[in-house]
This record gives sequence, C-alpha cells and structure tokens, in this order.
Amino acid sequence: MRSWVEISLGQIRANFRAVRALVGESVEVMPVVKADAYRHGAVAVSHALESEGARWLAVSNVEEGCLLRQSGIQSRILVMADFLEDERDALATQSLTPVIHSLEDLSAVRVPYHLKIDTGMNRLGTRAEPDEIARAVAATPVPLEGLMTHFASSGNYESQQTEQQLQRFEAVIEGLRRAGITPRYIHSCATTPVAYRRREAWGNLVRPGHAVYGYVSPARGAPARALHVAPALTWKVTVLEVKDVEVGGLIGYGGIHRAAQPMRIAVVAAGYADGIPHRLGRQDLAGARRLQAGFHLHLRRLRRPPPRSAGKSESDRR
Ligand SMILES: Cc1ncc(COP(=O)(O)O)c(C=O)c1O
Repeated sequence: MRSWVEISLGQIRANFRAVRALVGESVEVMPVVKADAYRHGAVAVSHALESEGARWLAVSNVEEGCLLRQSGIQSRILVMADFLEDERDALATQSLTPVIHSLEDLSAVRVPYHLKIDTGMNRLGTRAEPDEIARAVAATPVPLEGLMTHFASSGNYESQQTEQQLQRFEAVIEGLRRAGITPRYIHSCATTPVAYRRREAWGNLVRPGHAVYGYVSPARGAPARALHVAPALTWKVTVLEVKDVEVGGLIGYGGIHRAAQPMRIAVVAAGYADGIPHRLGRQDLAGARRLQAGFHLHLRRLRRPPPRSAGKSESDRR
C-alpha cells in the first residue's frame, strides 16, 4: 500500500470517556458524527460510541441519520442542519430527531424536536422574541424536547460574544419557563467550552465533535485546558526512497530547501493528491521536517535513518 489511514476506535472511546468524566453524570454527551464522523467512518465510530454508552449521536442531515439506522444504531440521533421536505417521512420512520430552525416550520412537525435559537451567530436558528417562541411552542402538538444554540466565538475568551449569546439564550429559556415549558435538554456547547470548562454554558447536554477525534483547538485568553484527548487517526505512508544530501544540496522544485548540514531524506508515496495541503510546504509535520511536496512524491527529513527494509538508500544502489 502506498498511503493509508488507521483509525483507533479504542482511542475514540477513550476520548468520549474523557469528555464524559469532565462534564459529569448530570450532563449528557452527544458526540457529533456528522460528515462521516469527521471522515473517521461514521458507522464504525457510531457503533463504538454506542457500545461505550452514548445515548445520543448528532449528524448533519437525514441521509447521514438513515445510514446509521440501517447499520443498526439504536441511540437517539439528532439531525442538526435541517431537512428537506421530501425527507420529512424518514424522520418518523427512522426515528430521527429534527432540529427546527424557524417558528413557521413548527406547525408541520410530527415528532419530538429540538428548537435552535440564533443567539447571535447569524446562521441557522430562529431570532424570534422569547414570548413569540413560547407561544409558538405551546401551540405545537408534539413536545419540544430540546432547546439549543451554537456559539460563534467560544474559542476567544477575549470576546464578549459568548456571554452575549448566553444572555439571549437564557432569555428564551426564561420565556419558555414563564409559559410552563421546560424542555428536557438545554444545549449549546461543542468542544471548546467543554475543553476549557466554561461550565455556565454546558446546559445539561454537550455536543463535542473534534474532541471525540482527539483534537482541541487553542482558545485565545482561555484558562488552562481541562480536557485531555489524543488523535485517533494515524496517516501512514510507504517510504519510496532514502537518500543522503550533502551540505548545500538543493532539494525539490525550485531548490526550495538548501541543506545546511548533511541530511538524510526520505521520499514517501503521498502528495497533494492524497490530501497533503500545499501550504504545509515548509512546516514541521508529524515530528519530521517536510521539505517539499511534489504532486505524487513527498520529501521528509528523517530524524533517524529508517530500517533497511523501509526503502533503498543511495549507497544500496552503488
Ligand atoms: C451545531 C453544532 N454542534 C456541535 C458541533 C461540533 O463542533 P466541534 O467539532 O467544534 O466540537 C458542530 C460542528 O460543526 C455543530 O455544527
């Protein structure tokens, strides 16, 4: 094989457990497995998470939800990014839980639903006033199971936007409460507010995506990171050739790198077509300094010479 990825379902389970341990038993964890579980393979990942105790999973669309049901997933599935008119029946037949984004859509809802409030991100969600929302929910024949929002700037503690969004969200929760409506779930958090323990934003359900796969983005001005997870995906590649380059030797297109000292480099069987971003041209990657990516070939400086079996060295050829 030239180039492949390996996914550790064990690591994904461990990451899920780490989130659960951090938020505690009073907060439900709904891992986000949309976009093919961030390309880690939604079916395998969802089964691993379900057997680890996940009672909810979140997908983007109905198609993703149906795929999980067909594979035997029993957990509740939240469809976060709306649905098309011709997908409405599938919500009921496949037991998918829709997120509704506008009060006008409530009259057509036939299954328990979550309602998304646009508290300031200006993407999906209703911007109606709290009393108007309460009236529309009260008039809907099926129950409101969850109230949710999504933060625009949770990775920036120097911005007030998250506090402002929380205030607007709280006003809607209060408006519903005044009308005697208390949804079972209140949720607003993806990975970042969990990882940096912004406790007041958790509600009683969190929706971590990238944390489950082992990543936490840096957050500006944030307190110390409370969540510790590790990547579940490893990208492996076959070494095609190993060669020594003398001081001053030019390497790659345009001689982009000049060897400042004697170097041993490996040419590996992966390039842009395999997903290596062009802009990584001169950055460190996975512990080795990558010098230049060609269309098919990829040059890396080796920390240690590879084992003999991994590739042919220049001296082997002489
Ligand atoms: C509504 C919603 N919730 C949660 C998530 C998970 O986000 P993250 O990967 O930052 O945890 C996403 C991802 O885009 C999302 O759109």
